[in-house]
Amino acid sequence: MRNIAAHKSCFLAFLLLLFTSQFASAAKKTLSKEHPCKRFVLYYHDILFDGGDVANATSATIANETKLGNFKFGKLVVFDDPMTRDSHLRSPAVARAQGFYFYDMKSDYNSWFAYTLVFNSTEREGTLNIMGADIMAAQTRDLSVVGGTGDFFMARGIATIETDTFQGAKYFRLKMDIKLYECY
Ligand SMILES: *[C@@H]1O[C@H](CO)[C@@H](O)[C@H](O)[C@H]1NC(C)=O
Ligand SMILES: *[C@@H]1O[C@H](CO)[C@@H](O)[C@H](O)[C@H]1NC(C)=O
Ligand SMILES: *[C@@H]1O[C@H](CO)[C@@H](O)[C@H](O)[C@H]1NC(C)=O
Repeated sequence: MRNIAAHKSCFLAFLLLLFTSQFASAAKKTLSKEHPCKRFVLYYHDILFDGGDVANATSATIANETKLGNFKFGKLVVFDDPMTRDSHLRSPAVARAQGFYFYDMKSDYNSWFAYTLVFNSTEREGTLNIMGADIMAAQTRDLSVVGGTGDFFMARGIATIETDTFQGAKYFRLKMDIKLYECY
């Protein structure tokens, strides 16, 4: 009887050791900010619909700003914007950015983005889902790449965005430096 109990506790101790060592190795997995597994820069072009430019516009206001503060609080814009490799608006689009942003700060310009980069070319097929706060006062802003599909299966990373040009509400361009730290 005593012998069986001893065997049992020995076996449990062995299991415990196995599990803890597995957890330890999982926790040890470190990501280096300097070494993404995939990285590319794309430019995002947003032309806001003014009521007349149906052929040219790529985004539209869905809900107007409120009177809470003077920084467009509540204004919601939905976009289907071309993503190009260089900063030229008329360069061939390598992906589309489909999603929305809204203004969300009472005391300054600040917005929140959520969109999918849809790739559909011979080179790349799939999606990357990106979301996060666009702290407009900062020179560069980091958004989270929360997932992906197709060629970007289960991807995660950071999209660092920077305003490249801003021509009022009519047209603005963002530079997006996309760094993936999980690639499969
Ligand atoms: C927003 O306000 C403008 C000007 O007042 C108006 O022309 C426009 O129709 C409004 N848009 C929406 C989506 O409510
Ligand atoms: C992707 O491109 C192909 C070929 O141009 C087209 O047939 C297909 O509808 C596109 N798919 C999407 C989701 O845009
Ligand atoms: C489309 O919008 C862009 C950005 O505002 C502008 O530079 C361009 O001239 C417009 N093109 C047409 C055909 O209206």
